[in-house]
Amino acid sequence: MPADSQPGPPQGGRTPIRSGIPWWCWVVALVVGLAAMAVAWPAPEPIPEPTEPELRALVADARVVATGRSVYVRYCVTCHGTVGQGAQGPNLRDDLWIKGSDMTDLVRSIGDGNPARGMVAWKTFVSRSEVHALAAYIASLHGTEDGSGKTAEGTRAPIGYWPPRGGEGGILPPGQKVEVDKTPAP
Ligand code: HEC
Repeated sequence: MPADSQPGPPQGGRTPIRSGIPWWCWVVALVVGLAAMAVAWPAPEPIPEPTEPELRALVADARVVATGRSVYVRYCVTCHGTVGQGAQGPNLRDDLWIKGSDMTDLVRSIGDGNPARGMVAWKTFVSRSEVHALAAYIASLHGTEDGSGKTAEGTRAPIGYWPPRGGEGGILPPGQKVEVDKTPAP
């Protein structure tokens, strides 16, 4: 192929765009278009809360439980004790619960708290996944009550979905016997 048949660079410098539409019309169209997109764009769907089975699966995940433990150590030991034995706040190792022992109950107890009784609504201070991890850590304590903790409070049923640690059943502090309320938590 002869070299002079190659298309060369355009001659004569700038080639003006001759569309007949003034440049500012494009700017206006762009702004209007973006505004329309912003209005029409659907608001993001709220992320749904995990279901009870999804939350229960977290208790089997050692990393989630370890995260829960580290958040617990930072925020919860003052009121619930170093290992959940209870102090100003209730014992979290025994078999009775004020608000219920399902994972969804624990997530609600932690997230919404009960400020009137001194339990902070933690969802304003920690992330959602940290609330879930805290609940998983607390559920993992099932069966660690050794009688040295605070007297059990509440009448809600014990954790039934997670095997007690060490293969032994969860226990109440000695001498305590309570009729367990099996109706769903309020
Ligand atoms: C300032 C003290 C205080 C702190 C800090 C605190 N709690 Fe509590 N917590 C309480 C009190 C008091 C209750 C009982 C509330 C009631 O009677 O409803 C409670 C209740 C609970 C319950 C429900 C227990 C049941 O029997 O149903 C859970 C679960 C719980 N707290 C977890 C936590 C976790 C996790 C943290 C740390 C992120 C935490 N708490 C930090 C005082 C505290």
